[in-house]
Amino acid sequence: MTVTASAGLDIRALLTDGSHLIGPDWVPAVSGETIDVTNPATQEILLRVPRGGAADVDAAVQAAAAAFPAWRDTSPAVRAELLTAWAGLCREHGTELSTLESLEVGHPYWGPSPVARTLTFVAGMADKVTGQTLPSAQPDVLGMTIREPYGVCGCIIPWNVPGPIMVTDVAPAIATGNTVVVKPAEDAPLTCLLLAKLALEAGIPPGVINVVTGYGPEAGAALPAHPMVRRMGFTGSPETGTKIMEACAANLVPLHMELGGKAPQIVLADADLDRAIPAIVGSITLNTGQVCAAGSRVLVGRDRQAELVERVAGAFGRVRVGPWHEDVQMGPLISAKQEARVLGYLGIGQQEGARLVTGGHKLTGGAYDKGFFVEPTIFDEVRPDMRIAQEEIFGPVLSVLSYSDEEEALAIANGTRYGLNACIWTRDIGRAVRLARGVQAGSVTINGFGSRGVIGAPWGGYKHSGFGRTMSAESILDFTQLKTVVINA
Ligand code: NAI
Ligand code: MG
Repeated sequence: MTVTASAGLDIRALLTDGSHLIGPDWVPAVSGETIDVTNPATQEILLRVPRGGAADVDAAVQAAAAAFPAWRDTSPAVRAELLTAWAGLCREHGTELSTLESLEVGHPYWGPSPVARTLTFVAGMADKVTGQTLPSAQPDVLGMTIREPYGVCGCIIPWNVPGPIMVTDVAPAIATGNTVVVKPAEDAPLTCLLLAKLALEAGIPPGVINVVTGYGPEAGAALPAHPMVRRMGFTGSPETGTKIMEACAANLVPLHMELGGKAPQIVLADADLDRAIPAIVGSITLNTGQVCAAGSRVLVGRDRQAELVERVAGAFGRVRVGPWHEDVQMGPLISAKQEARVLGYLGIGQQEGARLVTGGHKLTGGAYDKGFFVEPTIFDEVRPDMRIAQEEIFGPVLSVLSYSDEEEALAIANGTRYGLNACIWTRDIGRAVRLARGVQAGSVTINGFGSRGVIGAPWGGYKHSGFGRTMSAESILDFTQLKTVVINA
């Protein structure tokens, strides 16, 4: 494959330099200040975006509030058609969307963006939101429930997979008649801006989707603090999640949160390692480990530990690392901040006494010197109380822990503050069922990683991984409030 770093994408032709979207207008920040968005493989500047703050958020919320009554009263069938039109444009521009995300996040090219499929799924739900008729105690009374939108919803998006996460939050919100203000991450806001542009082109009315770019403590903090925001959605770190929840508490606003994980992959004695090993490697090198679902802890019985570690280490050695446009499996980390975080954990793991099997360093020399590249790393003989076994690293760092029996495996699996997802590798259906029930996680996969092959699987966490479920057919109902109507004849 010979593509240039930009893959021929003219970002300035797609997006206006220094502008975000408020109502119908692409405008600079009120302050006039901008943030440079860079390619993490080269540190080249891709585009500048506004450094929005409270005034910009206020303008966006006002635009969303102004658009709300007409959008609420738009036929759900028309909203479905508009979401379908947006899906169509996202399919048409699937390569551009994916390329832009690769450029700003640094991940390899994964093929055309999957957002069109999510939009099509949600569009199919838009005109199927129903209430109930209620049993009545008297023949002259009719009771029913109807589902209504909240109004202006705020969505704060992280930088790791901005396109899919934005659509996962925005599509069900607008399908049910809400309007939204999106605050993308400062490190990767461009895909979100392009998605919003395509939404406008698809005919979704101005003001239904607004995007304010800026830093977390400025634009981000202003969004849940705004008194006209009626519902929030957040994906990111638990620490920031707490701040957002505090702001929501002050305004008594409901929210859903997806806050990452420390997913256990429980490998039982009868596991098919030929299947498990590629999945384990993929689960922690995907997006350079910067995935909430990353399979960052392997739990293995002592009798198979040496074999598993040797085989995973061999596979790690074959992972091709480099800039996204080359034939690679793993790109750089997103930023200097994330690189410092990951390198910090590589040091902590060694200080804690875990055995470094492979990796452990920043990659240097040639093209590596320009970006935030680190080696895929395995720590063996990790104890459950070590920080590398407890904390979300958000890098390509795998911790291998051993257990002596199923009960201990479950205790280790459940022994972190997180509970997003888990994988169980076994041929024994009975043990698979027992462990699937015993694991504290919002999603469990037997003999695989993730929910590939399933359509509309609910996604979300237990414990500090958050609450609320996205992606499923029911998630659309979370963006509605239930009203009881009683008619006395
Ligand atoms: P973060 O949680 O601070 O950032 C996520 C989003 O929240 C960004 O849009 C950011 O601008 C915004 N934000 C930050 N501070 C805010 C505030 N005070 N009020 C409102 N919005 C605010 O995460 P960060 O610093 O980028 O990454 C740190 C760690 O968080 C990662 O290493 C990873 O462990 C975790 N994380 C988890 C993600 C997930 O998918 N669950 C995604 C991104 C980060
Ligand atoms: Mg960047």
